[in-house]
Amino acid sequence: MDRYEQVTELARRRGFMWPSFELYGGAAGFYDYGPLGARLKRRIEDIWRRFFVIGEGFAEIECPTIGIEEVFRASGHLSGFSDPLTECKECKEIYRADHLIKHIVEVPDALSAEEIYRVMKENDITCPECGGELSEVYEFNLMFRTAIGPGNRHPGYLRPETAQGMFINFQRLLRYYRDSLPFGAVQIGRSYRNEISPRQGVIRLREFSQAEAEVFIDPRNRRHPRFSEVKDIRLRLYSREAQERGQVEEMTVGEAVERGIIAHEILAYFVARTYEYLVAVGVDRERLRFRQHKADEMAHYAADCWDAEVLLDRLGWIEIVGIADRTDYDLRSHMALSKANLSVFVHYPEPVRRKRVAVKPDMKALGPRFKGRAKAIAEALQAMDLSDLKDDTIKVTVDGETYEIERSLVSVEEIEEEIRGEEVVPHVIEPSFGIDRILYTVLEHSYHEEPVEGETRVVLRFLPGISPVDVAVLPLMDKEELVEPARRLFDAFRRCGMLAEFDTSGSIGRRYRRNDEIGTPYCITVDYQTLEDGTVTVRDRDTMQQIRIREDRAVGVIRDLLSGALCFSEAGAPVKA
Ligand code: GLY
Repeated sequence: MDRYEQVTELARRRGFMWPSFELYGGAAGFYDYGPLGARLKRRIEDIWRRFFVIGEGFAEIECPTIGIEEVFRASGHLSGFSDPLTECKECKEIYRADHLIKHIVEVPDALSAEEIYRVMKENDITCPECGGELSEVYEFNLMFRTAIGPGNRHPGYLRPETAQGMFINFQRLLRYYRDSLPFGAVQIGRSYRNEISPRQGVIRLREFSQAEAEVFIDPRNRRHPRFSEVKDIRLRLYSREAQERGQVEEMTVGEAVERGIIAHEILAYFVARTYEYLVAVGVDRERLRFRQHKADEMAHYAADCWDAEVLLDRLGWIEIVGIADRTDYDLRSHMALSKANLSVFVHYPEPVRRKRVAVKPDMKALGPRFKGRAKAIAEALQAMDLSDLKDDTIKVTVDGETYEIERSLVSVEEIEEEIRGEEVVPHVIEPSFGIDRILYTVLEHSYHEEPVEGETRVVLRFLPGISPVDVAVLPLMDKEELVEPARRLFDAFRRCGMLAEFDTSGSIGRRYRRNDEIGTPYCITVDYQTLEDGTVTVRDRDTMQQIRIREDRAVGVIRDLLSGALCFSEAGAPVKA
């Protein structure tokens, strides 16, 4: 068994993750979270909220997971979110056509479906399974399509990313933030992609959870006011140039910006915060790097993108977060389709006085002549340049109709005006987290095996605060005189809001092993000494060290151990950390 199998087997057996629809044979690309997995996921998401909602002050919103067609027409997902496919005419197996020519063409993504098919033909590419003839290449859109209401008049799509909710609500969010940039909004929720053949368990799902932040910035200012907080963090960076050399570089965030490796402070700031978050949930910093997208692998909306990649035992380097510079792509696209104004009036620090030439139409003459259209014609004239007014007759087009106006009806004068600011279409920096992939990584990076007394002890070394169980309360034996005080202690933990488990089944050794396997950081055992002197044992998962403490201090001690305020001492008593 490799590590992937060991982890997924444990996850299945202990109730972290189960393949969905197992009763009916299952379906690739879907996973259920069992009792421990659902809790673990909630904790990973809550720490994300602590970083991005509380730490950054980004507002959390919640939008429908079904979107109407206009949203995805504007976003480019209707036209650009597809994979080129081909089908074997014999065995009917379906393949990503671009993958079949990877060894022939350096950048198959850049080719159209027709071009890929031509390369396949020229190189006699046949079905990798049975050698059969392959069909013409066609584009397969990865969005799940549905119908809103009966019939087919209103198509809907399960959202392929949560991000569009923030773009669609831009005007309301801007008002919420009192009309000033920068600001951010986030969503944590389900997204859907109809992947062709998801074969990597929870790594490639058709329904998955994203935590996304859309940070709206003034594109003329790419400095971050809190950059100094992150500039000394050391990261492993794999820029485009470093990839050419095949060499990951380690440097501080500040150095990366100074050397132009990360394009600007805001992008670098979120790369750094992503690093801090991933380490805080238990991703191993030694198996974490940031890789810049090559020009040909960028999503259709991105101008630059850095992925947080983790090293997994079977799968190699896998993307778990993307931090993209989406520029003004989305807002401009939604502006063009909806006709709404999605720009922001940005005030200058001081108003600027500027001289300009003003065009003044003679309304006394234009009014009676053009009546209802006079105002629109005058506005079109005012918008003209001096260079448009050289001839005796000026041609002006309003609502598709062209009018001829005598030059004598237009005067020109120089005026001075006060400019208080300008309209700006914000750019967007997007840190986008794949929660399921992060969860799997936390499981794999926490997984340890060690020999103990001739057996293999399996331990999930979750960080405190991540583990789905804070503390297990175990009566030494399933006897009423021990079960009753143990239950009282268990209730005390629950009343204090801690995730406690109570377990009487099997030998104490087996119960310790079970709790090691699910990553419970502390086990409390109630034994016969408890009945005599009111003390219980606390067992530390990682060291297996046991100490005795007073039963009435147990809740406080466990809380302090979990928060890091206390730690185990060699001498056998909890001490201040
Ligand atoms: N919003 C980025 C992504 O879904 O990949």
